[in-house]
Amino acid sequence: MPVITEIADLKRLYRRRVPRMFYDYAESGSWTEQTFRENTSDFDQLYFRQRIAVDMAGRSTASQMVGQDVAMPVALAPVGLTGMQSADGEIKAARAAETFGVPFTLSTLSICSIEDVAEHTSAPFWFQVYTLRDDDFMRRLIDRAKEANCSALVITVDLQIMGQRHRDIKNGLSAPPKLTPATLLNLATKWRWGLEMLGTKRREFRNVVGHAKGVTDPGSLASWTAEAFDPSLNWARIKEFRDMWDGPVIIKGVMDPRDAREALNVGADAIVVSNHGGRQLDGTLSSIRVLPKILDAVGDKIEVHLDSGIRSGQDVLKALALGAKGTYIGRAFVYGLGAMGEAGVTRALEVIHKELDTTMALCGRRDVTTLDPDILVVPDGFAVA
Ligand code: GLV
Repeated sequence: MPVITEIADLKRLYRRRVPRMFYDYAESGSWTEQTFRENTSDFDQLYFRQRIAVDMAGRSTASQMVGQDVAMPVALAPVGLTGMQSADGEIKAARAAETFGVPFTLSTLSICSIEDVAEHTSAPFWFQVYTLRDDDFMRRLIDRAKEANCSALVITVDLQIMGQRHRDIKNGLSAPPKLTPATLLNLATKWRWGLEMLGTKRREFRNVVGHAKGVTDPGSLASWTAEAFDPSLNWARIKEFRDMWDGPVIIKGVMDPRDAREALNVGADAIVVSNHGGRQLDGTLSSIRVLPKILDAVGDKIEVHLDSGIRSGQDVLKALALGAKGTYIGRAFVYGLGAMGEAGVTRALEVIHKELDTTMALCGRRDVTTLDPDILVVPDGFAVA
């Protein structure tokens, strides 16, 4: 077993072990992938200030997200098709998150259903919904999440229509994969993945199949989103979704201070500054660059979280220092999952935790809840509204 010291190690293993179609699904952005690239490279523009001879003993990364205790403010983001990266992937990731003490967010477009994950975990997890047209389906979905004791609802608001990811079209992405000569050739080199997948019954979108009406090809993400998603979404409709849930609501996909104020108005408990990992509007700014202006607009009234581009504990620390109260990792945990299953997700969390903790210490700080921008050098013009 190779020694894993950084997220990139997990990514290398992941690439080797998981069918090309699912690697490509996770590892792409829309169109030219400019935003996908800049989400990570823009973190490199922020520098830390090293401090010395400061007491570094007794550090803590413990915090809260939407009033819930977290071992570090790093949640697992909702990622579609996680159960295609590794058999029963959502269950494995949820279990790793539970043991580590961070929130796991189940995507509506998961392979394992809400009920599957609830049955195999004991800590409450978070559930993510899209803003779908079918009111009846939405209400039943949200009721199922209540029934499963989910402790927060994450509403994704940046996917009224889907940004095009070229490779998903070229690969004919579907769950389970359609057995064309090209897929079979690739699957033949992924025997471990295949054996595990044959050993589970969970190989389709189990939140959707058998639950949503009028879905003509339930295996195809592209056709399902085209049929079910609501291009005419507005804030009144988002408020309806908010009101379907009694507990904390997190609105994910805010990139503009005006939208942040709207999210506040509809009664969100938190927003996630996110461009969907560069998978929707290509050419928009990285989420780390818009974070400061969004904090200026609403940071004293609502909890502001950030995703898109986080691949290390240093990235987490930068977001927290700018003022985010929580962060999410998507690809970083998927690499671990595809590489080594549940143990790989745990390893990804351990790597990020150690990086966060040590980097915080070297900046002369001991507590993630009392950080501020003083530990950073932020170049002029970095923050954009
Ligand atoms: C779905 O939300 C995706 O980004 O593929």
